[in-house]
Amino acid sequence: MASLARKTILSHFQFMATLIQKLRRKKTDFNHEGHQKMHRVLGVRDLTLFGIAAILGAGSFSSLGGAVFHGGPGVVILFVIVAIACGFTAFCYSEFASRIPVSGSAYTYAYASFGEIFAWLIGWALLMEYSIGNIYVAFSWSDYFTSFMEKCGVNIPVYLSNSYVEVSKAVQAGTSNSELQSAWANAPLLGGMRMIFDLPAICINVLITVLVLRGIKESRNFSNIMVVLKMAVVLLVILVGGYLVFSNGLSFNWQPANPAGEHSFMPNGFGGVMFAVSGVFFAYIGFDAVSVLAEESKNPQRDLPRGMIYSLVICTVVYILLALVLTGAVDYKKFDGVGDPLAFIFEKDNLNVGWMQFLVAICAVIAMSSVLLVFQMGQPRIWMSMSRDGLLPKKFQELHPKYKTPKFATLLTGLVVGVPLLFTDKTFVLDFTSIGTLFAFVLVCGGVLLIPGRPREKGRFHLPKINSQYIFPSIVLSTVILVQIFYPVYFTHLFQFEPSAKELLGLNAIEIQEKTTSLITYNISTLIFWILCGVFMVYAFLQKWSLIPLLGLTTCLYLLTGMTATNWLWFFAWFGVGLLVYFSYGYKHSKLVKQ
Ligand code: ALA
Repeated sequence: MASLARKTILSHFQFMATLIQKLRRKKTDFNHEGHQKMHRVLGVRDLTLFGIAAILGAGSFSSLGGAVFHGGPGVVILFVIVAIACGFTAFCYSEFASRIPVSGSAYTYAYASFGEIFAWLIGWALLMEYSIGNIYVAFSWSDYFTSFMEKCGVNIPVYLSNSYVEVSKAVQAGTSNSELQSAWANAPLLGGMRMIFDLPAICINVLITVLVLRGIKESRNFSNIMVVLKMAVVLLVILVGGYLVFSNGLSFNWQPANPAGEHSFMPNGFGGVMFAVSGVFFAYIGFDAVSVLAEESKNPQRDLPRGMIYSLVICTVVYILLALVLTGAVDYKKFDGVGDPLAFIFEKDNLNVGWMQFLVAICAVIAMSSVLLVFQMGQPRIWMSMSRDGLLPKKFQELHPKYKTPKFATLLTGLVVGVPLLFTDKTFVLDFTSIGTLFAFVLVCGGVLLIPGRPREKGRFHLPKINSQYIFPSIVLSTVILVQIFYPVYFTHLFQFEPSAKELLGLNAIEIQEKTTSLITYNISTLIFWILCGVFMVYAFLQKWSLIPLLGLTTCLYLLTGMTATNWLWFFAWFGVGLLVYFSYGYKHSKLVKQ
């Protein structure tokens, strides 16, 4: 039975892969919209730079602040865990990119391995990564832009540089942040409604949309220059910040005291570190964007994997050093609500280096523009791929008569990013993006597990096939044993669904409710994770699954255990809507089904 199912999946994959290739070729031969004219100009260096352009942005310049606030210096451990998960996933992306070197990213790969409905779901999840992710980047861009303008003597009113949701939530929670209080108090009223919105974020979104619409060849050169610049400034932060940490004797900050007065590298325990998953994971999102450039790479089979892995390794090293510098320079507790942590550490009350604040602010504005550009370019391409397969209306393939860029898809991306800027806040979009992207990664790793092997070809990337039969069960069992030895209460705590009296000390009714919900969510998702590990162990043993995708799948699933109940709720609602859209349009118009 199992072997029949496996054979069916294998033949399905072969059928789908050939069909996709044929379909794409047919489209390319006969369309007049310029797909065949895509030049294969990108080498490993370009792809690596492109990867860094997509990865290094709001995650390091902005969400790192929240991550160190929750996890303290110990957040570097999470950076390593996430890097491992992303590394395995990058290998899986590479395997797919090497087999199906056409653009469309994980969407195309899911089409080949799981079939249409999963492909649709992944395309839907990628919408969270590319468009919703850009909402967060736009907000962060605005934080740095506002602080840069302030340093130039131009003060943008606070009610025009913060989102309504953020301000109203903070005020309702009785915030002590004077900036947010002033935004609420001074905002002009229109029909009884306070006019609070993030104007710089809206403006940069319009600007990027126009740039992407006008053509990407120029934007790519622009993007390479921006990468060099942002790497230079991040390295400067590490060097200047690192030097000052040691010369000012601040290394004690790496063993800070938690609210109970205990000194530790992880002041809020591993739970606090895991609370930072969304922020840390967000910092890595983007390496997969390299795969959308398959049709423009000189040698995609060889160069895409290298581009992804090189950019990931470089960014991981940078992140670890950055997190250490930040938590060394300033006590981790001071990062609460700080949206521009890299500039913050150089403020007067901290390291007090005025010129660094200025330099970081201007470079952050540039760095985040490159991320916005990459994602805003990626989204219309994925939609184009989906439209070519009939899952979205033809309008999504329509090119601008003059600029030859996907006009409708690009403008729609601009709207999908722009409109929510008025109705959301940073925390919400950060969590939403991270859960959606992790889900896409889970499907990519799972897809590689299911596809058949293939003969080796020189010059192509081949995922090393390591038999997991004994290795995976050994890894899981030894982890369980080690956890049991060093943290004996870990497994028993998973069955306790109420916080202890000590944890609830001093909390009000709402906080108690929140704490209980988050404990229940964490325990349930972690229990499901361990059950899945057990199931995978059996399959690994019986089916001799390939180790790398299996570890990718497992580590990504583990990261999902850090998501909150609200994240899950929104995630399922999002997928409900996705399925509705699929059954009311894509299902009826799919071209593959009609072949
Ligand atoms: N990793 C990207 C960033 O940090 C999304 O901006």
